[in-house]
Amino acid sequence: MKTAILPELPAFAHEPKPYNGPSAADVLALRREFVNPAIFAYYKQPLMIVEGSMQYVFDETGRRYLDAFAGIVTVGVGHCHPHVVAAARDQNERLQHTTTIYLHPNIAEYARDLAAKMPGNLKVCYFVNSGSEANDLALLMARAYTGNYDVIALRNAYHGGNQSTLGMTSHHTWKFNVPGGFGVQHALAPDTYRGPYGRDDREAGRKYADDVRSLIQFGTPGRVAAFIAESIQGVGGAVVYPDGYLRHAYEHVRAAGGVCIADEVQSGFGRTGSHFWGFETQGVVPDIVTMAKGIGNGAPIGAVVTTPEIARALTSRIHFNTFGGNAVAMAQARAVLQVIERDGIQANAAAVGGHLMAGLRRLQDIHDVIGDVRGLGLMLGVELVKDRTSKEPAGDACLRVFERSRELGLLVGKGGLHGNVLRIKPPMCITRADADFLVDVLDAALAEL
Ligand SMILES: Cc1ncc(COP(=O)(O)O)c(C=O)c1O
Repeated sequence: MKTAILPELPAFAHEPKPYNGPSAADVLALRREFVNPAIFAYYKQPLMIVEGSMQYVFDETGRRYLDAFAGIVTVGVGHCHPHVVAAARDQNERLQHTTTIYLHPNIAEYARDLAAKMPGNLKVCYFVNSGSEANDLALLMARAYTGNYDVIALRNAYHGGNQSTLGMTSHHTWKFNVPGGFGVQHALAPDTYRGPYGRDDREAGRKYADDVRSLIQFGTPGRVAAFIAESIQGVGGAVVYPDGYLRHAYEHVRAAGGVCIADEVQSGFGRTGSHFWGFETQGVVPDIVTMAKGIGNGAPIGAVVTTPEIARALTSRIHFNTFGGNAVAMAQARAVLQVIERDGIQANAAAVGGHLMAGLRRLQDIHDVIGDVRGLGLMLGVELVKDRTSKEPAGDACLRVFERSRELGLLVGKGGLHGNVLRIKPPMCITRADADFLVDVLDAALAEL
């Protein structure tokens, strides 16, 4: 059933440099011997990527791929974006590191610029090195500020891989069988595809949020430190909450003395297209916002932004992070914000994301294996099922589409608890022609199932 004409990547004027390093097989052997054995490589034949330019990456043979996963939703404005590279290079050549014990303009100016992107009184910035660190700090902050201990997270959430954030993450596949997550409980995932309240239920947001209230009443002392939620669930498979969900959930949490944490690690920096931050699509203002990934377009940066009042709670002790706010990291993050403005990145996420969504919905009309197409802007998910009524996850089919897409020049992600959701989260500079290519590749791969 192979389609006769295979999709072709849109033309792109970038000649990758000759690659003279070790072969992919040698790198794999080195990795197997010397690197953390719990990491996994995508694809039966692991792919080695040695160069990138905007929305494309190149393997060691010079073959080009459309990168629709962006280093796991991280390279937001494009691989090696010239403005970002120039800012990092310039700072690298002047001064790389001193820490916050001395003054440096980059951290102060970037904090001002980042705070200007936040609503309400969210204007105090903390800098760390990853999303896990950001969420760990947010947890500490919430507990120190409220004097409460209990935390409500959501099922199907991913908040990080260190001990405290694994407690808030809620896929068994990531959780080690060791004590962790004391005081953390998980409310129903507000998933209108798989959960009890569907998209036809206009009250779904309120009903899912009722589970947060119920959990507070039945599972905690009635007082909580925090509620934490991704604004769109990422690792869980691009789950978008029903309207009103966060508004109602926040009300219940605040009534119990807790603060509300929005995890924007994947959904921030314009990715939803309609808004700069994912939580804005729900019409709420959190008390603490955590971010990472797209903030640095590939530099290891995380941040927590909160109110001066909450920040005061952490002044009772010294709080310090050696690399947090590093001069090079801040230069790169600042350049990313500038590019988002100058290149109209958010508007492109809205326009190309809408075009892509329309194409994916067309595929849903012709391929029964597609149970659901969802997402916002350029944070999209395609959920594959064996049967549209039972919704039995089609993990095998997903894997085959995923492998075949790579052969055809398209890299996508995979997610959901059952590994049956294709995750599409490309650099936000992709074009409509790229989106058409992506849809054509998935069409061809789905037709071969
Ligand atoms: C929503 C969310 N929060 C937190 C994290 C943890 O970020 P990091 O891997 O940088 O620690 C991730 C990583 O995938 C994430 O998707």
